[in-house]
Amino acid sequence: MISTLLSRAGGPTDGDRTPRLLYGADYNPEQWPRTVWEEDVRLMREAGVNLVSVGIFSWARIQPAEDSWDFTWLDEVMDLLHEGGIGVDLATATASPPPWLTTAHPEILPVTAGGETVWPGARQHWRPTSPVFRRHALRLVRQMATRYADHPALVAWHVNNELGCHNVYDYSDDAARAFRSWLRARYTTLETLNRAWGTAFWSQRYTDWEQILPPRLAASHPNPTQQLDFKRFSSDALREHLRAEREILREITPDIPVTTNFMVMGGTKGMNYPDWADEIDFVSNDHYVQPGPQDRDELSFSANLTSGISGGRPWFLMEHSTSAVNWQPVNVAKRPGELARDSLLHVAHGADAVCFFQWRQSAAGAEKYHSAMVPHAGADSDLFRSVSELGAALKRLAPIAGSEREPAPVGILYDWESWWAGEQDSHPTSLLDYRQEALDWYTALLSLGIRADLVTTRSDLHRHRMLIAPVLHLVPADLAKTLTRYAEQGGHLVTTYFSGIVDENDHVWLGGYPGALRDLLGIRIEEFGPLLAGETTELDDGTTGSLWTDRITVTVPETDVLSRYRTGMHAGRPAVTRRVTGNGSATYVSTRLGVQGLASLLLRLLEPAGVESELPTAARGSVETIVRRSAEARFVFLVNRTDEAVTVPGLSGGVLLGTTNEDGTVALGPRGVAVLRQPTA
Ligand code: GLA
Ligand code: GLA
Repeated sequence: MISTLLSRAGGPTDGDRTPRLLYGADYNPEQWPRTVWEEDVRLMREAGVNLVSVGIFSWARIQPAEDSWDFTWLDEVMDLLHEGGIGVDLATATASPPPWLTTAHPEILPVTAGGETVWPGARQHWRPTSPVFRRHALRLVRQMATRYADHPALVAWHVNNELGCHNVYDYSDDAARAFRSWLRARYTTLETLNRAWGTAFWSQRYTDWEQILPPRLAASHPNPTQQLDFKRFSSDALREHLRAEREILREITPDIPVTTNFMVMGGTKGMNYPDWADEIDFVSNDHYVQPGPQDRDELSFSANLTSGISGGRPWFLMEHSTSAVNWQPVNVAKRPGELARDSLLHVAHGADAVCFFQWRQSAAGAEKYHSAMVPHAGADSDLFRSVSELGAALKRLAPIAGSEREPAPVGILYDWESWWAGEQDSHPTSLLDYRQEALDWYTALLSLGIRADLVTTRSDLHRHRMLIAPVLHLVPADLAKTLTRYAEQGGHLVTTYFSGIVDENDHVWLGGYPGALRDLLGIRIEEFGPLLAGETTELDDGTTGSLWTDRITVTVPETDVLSRYRTGMHAGRPAVTRRVTGNGSATYVSTRLGVQGLASLLLRLLEPAGVESELPTAARGSVETIVRRSAEARFVFLVNRTDEAVTVPGLSGGVLLGTTNEDGTVALGPRGVAVLRQPTA
């Protein structure tokens, strides 16, 4: 379906139906007088825009009262865009319920854990489980789908917007009711639920389903399995909403692909996206850079993970920013070159559409200081010129459209269940940061010039010679078997502290840590040794640990001790171990080594795993490589991670984007990107 989309968008004016990369933004014409719309379309064409998302926050304008509809303005917008050759990713417009609805039905408003109502006044003030909200939202979806089913500008449906951005956790009575049905479906009997939740603890035994509540504000730590199930339920409840909207769209427009924009970025963890990916026709993601020492690695990580969630198939970057956002403590502008580099890094990781929030920077409202493709200064601006240059670059990259990711030698397993369970309260430490640990491994691999794929438990893990599973805290028996098989069949598994500790019910695997992975790793731990904030421990290989230590005993003779603690409570005991399993191995890292420590450890682990950098030595660390592949070609992206110019020698292939020096080396300017095209072997 995505290939049809790639050739459909961009419109009727040129009649060209070859696939292309799509380029555009959220377009909010309702914020502007009619006179601006024609200039918008003219400038979009100038910038190379061929796709816009329309109607995301238009509910109040489309349906001014319960039984009154106003589509005339939207008809006109759709027509104008179509005449301009611009495809429309049309929103179902259900993201922000209008004041008349919340006034008539305050029972759709979410409730916090402490029982406070989340009032209207911003956006997304609706309960995912409210039957009243659902009824009104679906009525709107049906109207939209019926109205625009045959409109030639319509190329995709955009369900709601960033489902769960502000309303993932709702503790209302509607949520309580829906949570109980979800639990009944999961456990069937109260007896099973009582066992799974360990309700023998603190006198929590339930004797009637009606006694069960969401984990509302409580006197002390709420039941951990109740918390974990509520996270699962809350993600599922939003997925239910997605399904409900999608069903109507499929009924009325079976040929129009449906998507919804995910938020694989930063700390957004409420939605288990690997579980959502099958519900839509193609994956879309929104990403915003959060300035910091690893900001661009985080961008690459998020784009990479989005690709993993999409099964390696292309996806759409539905939103990112041309420059500053408005919602960080300090909103910094992008430096020259960053707009293009950030966009192309997403393309490298599989984005076939590059879209921004938003087309024209708002003059009013909470996002008036958020950058856009057309800034407050207007089209006569460096920003708009950069936007147009990027449009031209994306045109040159058309041959890439539709290509998939070529598996990398290393996989990094990213698992929502472990993220959720590992960071819950009442644990050995509250300082654990699941995503940061995974990102540190990723940065360490980038610093060595090694390609790695972010993968999920749904991915084919055997594609990777090495599989890194940081803080894989929650390991059901099946996953333990899968990982054991992986290592026995020649894979090189690497895992860390606090992995393999609990099963799917958050019950500890007994007999010594790391429970489910103990035999595979050939070690046994009797007690955790978390470190205080700022406390560190030295290892005998020169690296430094923080956050965590373990008191490890080696239990299987073929387990090597790669390094030992030199200081601290466990001085002299193993810190990093590696068990050889046939052709494969299983490595355990018991402390947080940080990027540099991980890089130095990886140097010792990669070689026996048969993994080496594909980059010439001079470019390792300064350049990130990503490979996309179609039936005809391999597209090698070279992304300069530094602010200095870099020369990359020794790579074959024609240059699709970028420049070569006279000697054939690839020249990458500061933050520059080049794309080589190689024939497939
Ligand atoms: C999100 C939303 C957009 C906008 C941007 C601003 O991604 O989907 O509507 O608010 O954030 O960064
Ligand atoms: C208190 C309580 C116990 C237990 C401990 C844990 O003393 O009485 O039930 O929770 O704290 O430290």
